[in-house]
Amino acid sequence: MTILWSLDPHVGETYRLALGGEAEVMTQAPRILKAVDESANHQLVVIAPDIGVDSACELAERLRVEHQEVGVLLLRQRLDVNVMAHALRSGIREVVQSDDHTALADAVRRSEQLTAQLAGEGAGRGEGETRARIITVFSAKGGVGKTTVSTNVAAHLAASGKRTLLVDLDLMFGDVAITLQLLPSGTVSDLVAMRGHLDKSGLDSVVATHEETGLDVVAPSSDPADADRVPSDVIAELLRTARVHYDYVIVDTPPAFTEHVLTALDVSDLTLLIATLDIPAVKNLRIAMNTLDTLGASRDSRVIVLNRSGMKVGLADDEVATALKQEPAISIPNSLAVPTAANRGVPLVMENPRDPSTVAIRELADQEIRARFGDPVHTNGRKTSRLRRSRV
Ligand SMILES: Nc1ncnc2c1ncn2[C@@H]1O[C@H](COP(=O)(O)OP(=O)(O)OP(=O)(O)O)[C@@H](O)[C@H]1O
Ligand SMILES: [Mg+2]
Repeated sequence: MTILWSLDPHVGETYRLALGGEAEVMTQAPRILKAVDESANHQLVVIAPDIGVDSACELAERLRVEHQEVGVLLLRQRLDVNVMAHALRSGIREVVQSDDHTALADAVRRSEQLTAQLAGEGAGRGEGETRARIITVFSAKGGVGKTTVSTNVAAHLAASGKRTLLVDLDLMFGDVAITLQLLPSGTVSDLVAMRGHLDKSGLDSVVATHEETGLDVVAPSSDPADADRVPSDVIAELLRTARVHYDYVIVDTPPAFTEHVLTALDVSDLTLLIATLDIPAVKNLRIAMNTLDTLGASRDSRVIVLNRSGMKVGLADDEVATALKQEPAISIPNSLAVPTAANRGVPLVMENPRDPSTVAIRELADQEIRARFGDPVHTNGRKTSRLRRSRV
C-alpha cells in the first residue's frame, strides 16, 4: 500500500484517484521507516507539499540505503529547479506538481515499474547483501539426515547471532518442531489465509522461537491432509517475506521433489544435498542431481554433505565421491550423540559441542555457508556467541 506523508491526516481523499486507491496517511518520518521495515507491501512513499524539502530528502536518503526498492515521489505546489536537483540527488524518483494528478498517476506507474524491476534483479541475486540467503537441505531418499543437518545448521547460525529462520517444508511428516521441543501457535497452513498480503506481522504470527538459540521456526500443521491445501505460491511468498527480515533462511524438506520443494529450490542461493554411505542413497542423490541439472539449477550453488561417514557398511567415503562425480564438501561422522540429542529435544550443537559430528556441522555452517556468502566468522576478540555463553 502507498504511504502518503502529510501533516494533514485527511489528505488521502485528495490524491486517491491519482494514487490508484486508498493511501495510508502518516504524519511522522520514523513511523514511515518502521512501516516500510515491517512490511514488504509498502513500496511507494508520496510526500505531500506540506512536508519540508529537507525532511523529505532526509527520508529519501534513508530509504535509498535501507530499502532501495521503495519509490519516493515528492509533491510540490510549484516546480523549482533547485528543489528538483536536491530531491533527485537524495534518491527521490520524481518531483511532481501537486495539482497535476495525471502527472502524479504517471509517476506512480513509473515508480511501480522500477520497483518491480529491482525486485526481479534481487530475486536473481546480486542485490543480495541486505537479504537473507536461502539454503535448502535436500535428498531424494528418506532418513539420511536432512532434518538433523537443517536443524543444527540453523541452530548454530542463530546462536552465533544471525537472524535465522528454519522453515519445515516436510508438510506431511515434518519433525523440526518436535526435534526442538517447540509448540508453535501457528503453522504453514495458517499462511494460506494471508495469501497475497503476507507481511512481517503475519509471518511472526506463525513463527515459534527456540529460546536457547534465538532460532525462529515455521512448522507445518500436524494434520498431513493439510499439506495439499497449501498452494506453492504461499511458500514462495513466505520465503520472499522472510528474505527481507532474516540473514539466513534454512529450508528442511521431505524426500521428494514436491511442488513446495521445487518452489524453495527455485529461490535458493545454496542447496545442501545429503548422502549416506549406502547404494540407494547415492543412487537417489545422483538422480536428484540430474533432476536439478534438468531444472537448470546452477552446479556452483549446490554442495554435497556426506552424513554418517565412517560407518563400516561396505561403501567408503571416496567411493561415494567417485559415484557422484563430486567431492563432498563436508563429512559428518556417524555418532551416537546425534540421536541422543534429538531424543532429548536439544540441538546437538548445544547438547554436545565437542562431538566430532557437531564440529563438522559447525564447519558446514561457518565455511560452506557463511564464508561462501562473504560473512566470515571472527573467532578472536569478537563478542561471545549465545552458544558459547550458554556453555560456560
Ligand atoms: N551423523 C549421524 N550419526 C548418527 N545418527 C544420525 C546421524 N545423522 C542422522 N542420524 C539419525 O538418523 C535418523 C534420520 O535422521 P533425520 O531425521 O535427520 O533424517 P531425514 O533425512 O530428515 O529423514 P526424513 O526423510 O524421514 O525426513 C535420526 O534418527 C537421526 O538421529
Ligand atoms: Mg526429516
